Amino acid sequence: MLAFLGGIGATLVALFLGTVAYVYLGGYNIAATEEHGSFTRWVFDTTFHQSVEGGGASVSAPEELTPEMAAAGAAPYKEMCQHCHSAPGWERASWAEGMRPLPPHLTEAAAEWQPSEVFWLVKHGAKMTGMPAFGPSHSDEDIWNIVAFVKRLPAMTPQEYEQSTSGTGTSANAPAVQR
Ligand code: HEC
Repeated sequence: MLAFLGGIGATLVALFLGTVAYVYLGGYNIAATEEHGSFTRWVFDTTFHQSVEGGGASVSAPEELTPEMAAAGAAPYKEMCQHCHSAPGWERASWAEGMRPLPPHLTEAAAEWQPSEVFWLVKHGAKMTGMPAFGPSHSDEDIWNIVAFVKRLPAMTPQEYEQSTSGTGTSANAPAVQR
Protein backbone atom coordinates (compact mmCIF):
# COMPACT_ATOMS: atom_id res chain seq x y z
CA MET A 1 0.00 0.00 0.00
CA LEU A 2 2.78 2.38 1.00
CA ALA A 3 4.71 1.59 -2.17
CA PHE A 4 1.56 2.21 -4.22
CA LEU A 5 1.02 5.65 -2.65
CA GLY A 6 4.72 6.40 -3.08
CA GLY A 7 4.38 5.55 -6.79
CA ILE A 8 1.46 7.96 -7.19
CA GLY A 9 3.38 10.68 -5.33
CA ALA A 10 6.46 10.22 -7.53
CA THR A 11 4.30 10.36 -10.69
CA LEU A 12 2.67 13.62 -9.53
CA VAL A 13 6.05 15.18 -8.75
CA ALA A 14 7.37 14.11 -12.17
CA LEU A 15 4.28 15.60 -13.88
CA PHE A 16 4.67 18.87 -11.97
CA LEU A 17 8.39 19.14 -12.76
CA GLY A 18 7.69 18.27 -16.40
CA THR A 19 5.10 21.05 -16.61
CA VAL A 20 7.44 23.60 -15.01
CA ALA A 21 10.24 22.60 -17.40
CA TYR A 22 7.85 22.84 -20.39
CA VAL A 23 6.84 26.38 -19.37
CA TYR A 24 10.38 27.55 -18.60
CA LEU A 25 11.93 26.08 -21.72
CA GLY A 26 9.32 27.80 -23.95
CA GLY A 27 7.81 24.49 -25.02
CA TYR A 28 4.40 25.99 -25.73
CA ASN A 29 4.30 28.12 -28.89
CA ILE A 30 2.10 31.18 -28.19
CA ALA A 31 2.33 32.54 -31.78
CA ALA A 32 -1.13 33.68 -32.94
CA THR A 33 -0.09 32.91 -36.52
CA GLU A 34 -0.70 29.23 -35.71
CA GLU A 35 -4.10 27.71 -35.01
CA HIS A 36 -4.71 26.08 -31.63
CA GLY A 37 -4.45 22.31 -31.59
CA SER A 38 -7.83 20.57 -31.33
CA PHE A 39 -7.31 19.59 -27.67
CA THR A 40 -6.35 23.15 -26.62
CA ARG A 41 -9.31 24.51 -28.60
CA TRP A 42 -11.67 22.09 -26.83
CA VAL A 43 -10.31 23.07 -23.41
CA PHE A 44 -10.69 26.81 -24.17
CA ASP A 45 -14.14 26.53 -25.82
CA THR A 46 -15.58 24.35 -23.08
CA THR A 47 -14.11 26.51 -20.30
CA PHE A 48 -15.47 29.63 -22.04
CA HIS A 49 -18.99 28.25 -22.55
CA GLN A 50 -19.34 26.78 -19.06
CA SER A 51 -18.01 29.96 -17.43
CA VAL A 52 -20.29 32.31 -19.43
CA GLU A 53 -23.33 30.09 -18.75
CA GLY A 54 -22.51 30.10 -15.04
CA GLY A 55 -21.97 33.87 -15.03
CA GLY A 56 -25.20 34.52 -16.96
CA ALA A 57 -27.18 32.48 -14.42
CA SER A 58 -26.24 35.00 -11.72
CA VAL A 59 -27.55 37.99 -13.73
CA SER A 60 -31.15 39.21 -13.49
CA ALA A 61 -32.22 40.53 -16.87
CA PRO A 62 -34.70 43.40 -17.38
CA GLU A 63 -38.19 42.17 -18.27
CA GLU A 64 -37.88 43.42 -21.81
CA LEU A 65 -35.12 44.61 -24.14
CA THR A 66 -36.98 47.49 -25.78
CA PRO A 67 -36.40 49.07 -29.22
CA GLU A 68 -35.36 52.25 -27.38
CA MET A 69 -32.63 50.35 -25.54
CA ALA A 70 -31.42 48.80 -28.81
CA ALA A 71 -31.36 52.24 -30.47
CA ALA A 72 -29.20 53.56 -27.62
CA GLY A 73 -26.82 50.58 -27.99
CA ALA A 74 -26.25 50.98 -31.74
CA ALA A 75 -23.55 53.68 -31.73
CA PRO A 76 -21.57 52.07 -28.86
CA TYR A 77 -21.65 48.75 -30.79
CA LYS A 78 -20.25 50.41 -33.88
CA GLU A 79 -17.60 52.21 -31.88
CA MET A 80 -16.49 49.40 -29.54
CA CYS A 81 -17.41 46.00 -31.00
CA GLN A 82 -17.61 46.17 -34.79
CA HIS A 83 -13.87 46.03 -35.55
CA CYS A 84 -13.60 42.69 -33.80
CA HIS A 85 -17.06 41.17 -34.33
CA SER A 86 -18.10 42.64 -37.72
CA ALA A 87 -21.68 43.74 -38.44
CA PRO A 88 -24.32 43.41 -41.18
CA GLY A 89 -22.53 44.70 -44.30
CA TRP A 90 -19.13 44.98 -42.59
CA GLU A 91 -16.18 42.62 -42.21
CA ARG A 92 -13.88 42.60 -39.17
CA ALA A 93 -11.01 45.12 -39.20
CA SER A 94 -8.01 43.54 -40.94
CA TRP A 95 -5.97 43.44 -37.70
CA ALA A 96 -8.75 41.55 -35.92
CA GLU A 97 -8.31 38.76 -38.49
CA GLY A 98 -4.97 38.07 -36.77
CA MET A 99 -6.57 37.27 -33.40
CA ARG A 100 -6.59 33.71 -31.96
CA PRO A 101 -9.27 32.86 -31.07
CA LEU A 102 -10.89 34.75 -33.92
CA PRO A 103 -13.75 36.93 -32.61
CA PRO A 104 -16.93 35.37 -34.05
CA HIS A 105 -19.33 37.24 -36.34
CA LEU A 106 -22.04 38.31 -33.89
CA THR A 107 -24.51 38.47 -36.76
CA GLU A 108 -24.55 34.68 -36.27
CA ALA A 109 -23.14 33.99 -32.81
CA ALA A 110 -25.45 36.43 -30.94
CA ALA A 111 -28.41 34.09 -31.49
CA GLU A 112 -26.71 31.35 -29.46
CA TRP A 113 -26.49 33.30 -26.21
CA GLN A 114 -29.16 34.41 -23.72
CA PRO A 115 -29.30 38.17 -23.04
CA SER A 116 -28.05 37.59 -19.46
CA GLU A 117 -25.05 35.67 -20.85
CA VAL A 118 -24.18 38.44 -23.34
CA PHE A 119 -24.51 40.96 -20.49
CA TRP A 120 -22.20 38.99 -18.21
CA LEU A 121 -19.62 38.50 -20.99
CA VAL A 122 -19.59 42.16 -22.05
CA LYS A 123 -19.37 43.30 -18.42
CA HIS A 124 -16.60 40.89 -17.36
CA GLY A 125 -14.81 40.06 -20.62
CA ALA A 126 -12.93 36.79 -21.09
CA LYS A 127 -9.33 36.16 -20.08
CA MET A 128 -7.05 34.47 -22.63
CA THR A 129 -9.25 35.45 -25.59
CA GLY A 130 -8.86 39.21 -26.17
CA MET A 131 -12.55 39.88 -25.33
CA PRO A 132 -12.34 43.05 -23.15
CA ALA A 133 -14.31 43.72 -19.94
CA PHE A 134 -16.54 46.76 -20.43
CA GLY A 135 -17.81 46.79 -16.83
CA PRO A 136 -14.97 48.94 -15.46
CA SER A 137 -15.75 51.69 -17.99
CA HIS A 138 -19.53 51.34 -18.57
CA SER A 139 -22.66 51.30 -16.42
CA ASP A 140 -25.01 48.31 -16.33
CA GLU A 141 -27.56 50.45 -18.17
CA ASP A 142 -25.09 51.14 -21.04
CA ILE A 143 -24.30 47.41 -21.23
CA TRP A 144 -27.99 46.35 -21.35
CA ASN A 145 -28.46 48.79 -24.26
CA ILE A 146 -25.59 47.11 -26.12
CA VAL A 147 -27.08 43.67 -25.32
CA ALA A 148 -30.48 44.80 -26.71
CA PHE A 149 -28.74 45.85 -29.93
CA VAL A 150 -26.57 42.71 -30.17
CA LYS A 151 -29.63 40.42 -29.85
CA ARG A 152 -31.16 42.17 -32.87
CA LEU A 153 -28.07 41.74 -35.07
CA PRO A 154 -28.89 38.31 -36.55
CA ALA A 155 -32.14 39.64 -38.08
CA MET A 156 -30.69 42.98 -39.25
CA THR A 157 -30.03 43.95 -42.87
CA PRO A 158 -26.97 46.09 -43.79
CA GLN A 159 -29.36 49.00 -44.54
CA GLU A 160 -31.00 48.74 -41.11
CA TYR A 161 -27.56 48.61 -39.51
CA GLU A 162 -26.42 51.76 -41.31
CA GLN A 163 -29.62 53.58 -40.35
CA SER A 164 -29.43 52.61 -36.70
CA THR A 165 -25.78 53.63 -36.42
CA SER A 166 -26.53 56.80 -38.50
CA GLY A 167 -23.92 55.80 -41.06
CA THR A 168 -20.94 56.75 -38.90
CA GLY A 169 -18.15 54.47 -40.12
CA THR A 170 -15.04 53.49 -38.20
CA SER A 171 -11.99 53.73 -40.42
CA ALA A 172 -10.60 50.47 -38.98
CA ASN A 173 -13.24 48.39 -40.78
CA ALA A 174 -13.27 47.50 -44.42
CA PRO A 175 -16.70 47.45 -46.06
CA ALA A 176 -17.71 43.85 -46.66
CA VAL A 177 -18.84 42.23 -49.81
CA GLN A 178 -22.61 42.40 -49.30
CA ARG A 179 -23.81 39.20 -47.69
C1 HEC B 1 -10.41 43.32 -29.35
C2 HEC B 1 -11.45 42.52 -29.95
C3 HEC B 1 -12.81 42.47 -29.29
C4 HEC B 1 -13.63 43.52 -28.97
C5 HEC B 1 -13.35 45.01 -29.13
C6 HEC B 1 -14.87 42.93 -28.51
N1 HEC B 1 -14.78 41.56 -28.50
FE1 HEC B 1 -16.26 40.24 -28.00
N2 HEC B 1 -14.98 38.66 -28.28
C7 HEC B 1 -13.67 38.78 -28.71
C8 HEC B 1 -13.06 37.46 -28.69
C9 HEC B 1 -11.64 37.14 -29.09
C10 HEC B 1 -14.06 36.56 -28.22
C11 HEC B 1 -13.91 35.07 -27.88
C12 HEC B 1 -14.07 34.15 -29.03
C13 HEC B 1 -13.89 32.69 -28.65
O1 HEC B 1 -13.34 32.36 -27.60
O2 HEC B 1 -14.32 31.87 -29.45
C14 HEC B 1 -15.26 37.36 -28.02
C15 HEC B 1 -16.48 36.82 -27.62
C16 HEC B 1 -17.66 37.54 -27.58
C17 HEC B 1 -18.98 36.95 -27.47
C18 HEC B 1 -19.28 35.44 -27.42
C19 HEC B 1 -19.40 34.96 -28.84
C20 HEC B 1 -19.20 33.48 -29.04
O3 HEC B 1 -20.14 32.82 -29.53
O4 HEC B 1 -18.11 32.97 -28.74
C21 HEC B 1 -19.88 37.99 -27.44
C22 HEC B 1 -21.41 37.89 -27.33
C23 HEC B 1 -19.11 39.22 -27.54
N3 HEC B 1 -17.77 38.90 -27.62
C24 HEC B 1 -19.66 40.50 -27.54
C25 HEC B 1 -18.92 41.68 -27.66
C26 HEC B 1 -19.50 43.00 -27.61
C27 HEC B 1 -20.99 43.31 -27.47
C28 HEC B 1 -18.47 43.90 -27.74
C29 HEC B 1 -18.51 45.40 -27.67
C30 HEC B 1 -19.11 45.98 -26.47
C31 HEC B 1 -17.25 43.11 -27.89
N4 HEC B 1 -17.55 41.78 -27.83
C32 HEC B 1 -15.97 43.66 -28.12
C33 HEC B 1 -13.03 39.95 -29.12
C34 HEC B 1 -13.53 41.23 -28.98
